[in-house]
Amino acid sequence: MASIPASIDETIACLAEQDYVCGRGLGTVVFLSLTLGKPLFLEGEAGTGKTEIAKALAAGLGRRLIRLQCYEGLDAASAIYEWNFAAQMVAIRTAEAAGQADRGELQAELFSADYLIRRPLLDALEPHAEGPPVLLIDEVDRTDEPFEAFLLEVLSDFQVTIPELGTVTAQEPPIVVLTSNRTREVHDALKRRCLYHWVDYPTFERELAILRARVPEATQRLSEEIVAFVQALRGQDLFKSPGVAEAIDWARCLVALDAVALSPEVITDTLGAVLKYQDDIARIAGAETTRLLDEAKGALADVS
Ligand SMILES: Nc1ncnc2c1ncn2[C@@H]1O[C@H](COP(=O)(O)OP(=O)(O)OP(=O)(O)O)[C@@H](O)[C@H]1O
Ligand SMILES: [Mg+2]
Repeated sequence: MASIPASIDETIACLAEQDYVCGRGLGTVVFLSLTLGKPLFLEGEAGTGKTEIAKALAAGLGRRLIRLQCYEGLDAASAIYEWNFAAQMVAIRTAEAAGQADRGELQAELFSADYLIRRPLLDALEPHAEGPPVLLIDEVDRTDEPFEAFLLEVLSDFQVTIPELGTVTAQEPPIVVLTSNRTREVHDALKRRCLYHWVDYPTFERELAILRARVPEATQRLSEEIVAFVQALRGQDLFKSPGVAEAIDWARCLVALDAVALSPEVITDTLGAVLKYQDDIARIAGAETTRLLDEAKGALADVS
């Protein structure tokens, strides 16, 4: 079983091996979360690497990644377990046809582990050969308050009760990462169980490192220009600022077009990779593109 990193530096290095670029602040909370066994609660702008860190952690530690994608109306049945109703029906019919008479025996069989469909939370509490898995509870702000209260219970005791089978308690708690885009505030009680970190847009240097790691085919110069331009865009009053994900997508588009540097023309042609709202595109297209590109190149000249 792969052991957890012994220091903040080791944590950052473990994530770097998975091409995840992690600053000291995030590295510290991840290390503490692993060491103290406390869930990690990541809140922040869209496309800033919240979901990715759970994937990188699982890969880096050699653990399974179990993902619970949250949405409005998500209920306990979809999150913990369900009985396999169809298989139970087949078993009942078969028993009837065979003339099996013992109802108690049949009932015990129908509500045994064989007929249980494990959903992510139950799966995460059960033992795994590689060691406790990484449980990603993604976009928790999309669920409703009753589900949140229920999550709180699971994360407090790392156990769930199945009335017909009994209580399942994790021998070793999973490594839990919760993410939120802050479309609403998540309850204090849930946050209190966790270590909290706000994932902000990266600095120029960090975003450049991310781009170099994720799109190595883009030249250093092109990557620098992309990052400087995307960072300049974030300073504008846009409906939806581009995240790191958009910077990466844009770099891939520009590489596919054999672009070696940014120009107002190439930006205009590919703006849809960076901005996803027509109002934002209309605002930036034209003279504003040239102005922002000049601003970005000016910023680049300052850092070099
Ligand atoms: N620090 C980072 N190191 C490496 N890659 C990163 C980093 N941050 C973001 N990325 C890249 O950006 C992409 C988007 O990241 P991710 O999906 O984790 O964002 P998110 O914060 O979960 O966004 P959303 O809120 O929209 O779900 C990923 O594919 C990942 O490759
Ligand atoms: Mg995400």
